[in-house]
Amino acid sequence: MVLGVVKETFPGEKRVSVIPQVISSFKKMGLDVIVESGAGEGAYISDKDYEEAGAKIVSRDELLKSSDIITYVKAPGADKNNIVDIDIMRKGTVVIGMTEPLANPEVAKIFAEKGIISFSLELIPRITRAQSMDVLSSMATIAGYKAVIIASELLSKVFPMFMTAAGNLMAARVFVLGAGVAGLQAIATAKRLGAVVEAYDVRPEVKEQVQSVGGKFIELGLETKEASDKSGYAKEMSDEFYRKQREMMLRVLEYTDVVISTASVPGKKAPILITKEMVEKMKPGSVIVDLAAEKGGNCELTKPGEIYEYNKVKIAGVINLPSTVPVHASQMYSNNVKNFLSLIVKNGNLNIDLSDEIISSTLVTKDGEIVNPLVKKALG
Ligand code: NAI
Repeated sequence: MVLGVVKETFPGEKRVSVIPQVISSFKKMGLDVIVESGAGEGAYISDKDYEEAGAKIVSRDELLKSSDIITYVKAPGADKNNIVDIDIMRKGTVVIGMTEPLANPEVAKIFAEKGIISFSLELIPRITRAQSMDVLSSMATIAGYKAVIIASELLSKVFPMFMTAAGNLMAARVFVLGAGVAGLQAIATAKRLGAVVEAYDVRPEVKEQVQSVGGKFIELGLETKEASDKSGYAKEMSDEFYRKQREMMLRVLEYTDVVISTASVPGKKAPILITKEMVEKMKPGSVIVDLAAEKGGNCELTKPGEIYEYNKVKIAGVINLPSTVPVHASQMYSNNVKNFLSLIVKNGNLNIDLSDEIISSTLVTKDGEIVNPLVKKALG
């Protein structure tokens, strides 16, 4: 079977789904690898690097026509520019990548009509066995780190405490809202930069994790016993809960220099946890980096893709941060793809074993049908 690696087409996207270092693993799986010319450019990988690792460089058209499996970072659906790829692929081609199937479920219909077998890596369950394939976690780790770096750039103060002959400077105070994967990495990074870091999450069980990376868990006195679902993800809370949370958080925001907000509930719009009125009470010169911007933002004033100032507070609606760290983001993504492929390719053949939870959770279309219950639900 032939595995094809395309060049990403999403504006500004610099990652590539497979780096040369994993090609030998694909060969061991019995796959021949072809790579679109220029696929690695954004991550400083040349065609020659791929050739030396044993891949063949081809045009996009040839790749789409002759691959049995095609890997993407932003697959058709998540990227509107490459939706045309589906028309060129053969029936039965396997597409693997991030397709945003719950935000854009309509695309699954096109995949099904064309007889494409599609896997959405965002749907990988957060179970221990799937950790090495979990693209959302690996990309969120990078995003959490980069969010703090951006905040340090935007802040009008230094992060660490300085004791100098010219006087002492207090360490910056950072508040991380939502201590999932991105949030925990943000806490660790801000701590390494010397800030005083506090964090809040609706899931009380993350308190110890916050402490283990050097943050202080803030208790807001809210009832959160029922805040997680069976798989450990946060549940959507009531409007009344969010109202109380905003009220309790205000006292933290009033003294905070930097807010990194990452609060999210799978498949839902991000909850609004910082209102315009709350921003108006923040200190002049303070910064909000809203990682939830892609899902609308945790701050009411967030403009996705923009950094601007409102009432002397800088608000950064950051999107696609992993692409700003393309070398390491591609390395992590590529390892995730390799580990996922080792589940569905056996001795050079496709082996879609639906009794495997990881495979059944990520498979979106097969045999002309949408087979994923979550995507079916999203389509109504
Ligand atoms: P995650 O699911 O691991 O973490 C989200 C956390 O938010 C969970 O711990 C959850 O309990 C918490 N949460 C939910 N409701 C809350 C509330 N009302 N108050 C406090 N905490 C609450 O998700 P992950 O992977 O860490 O991603 C976080 C966010 O960052 C997501 O919105 C994701 O889409 C976004 N993201 C953004 C990127 C960018 O470049 N802008 C890149 C990667 C992720």
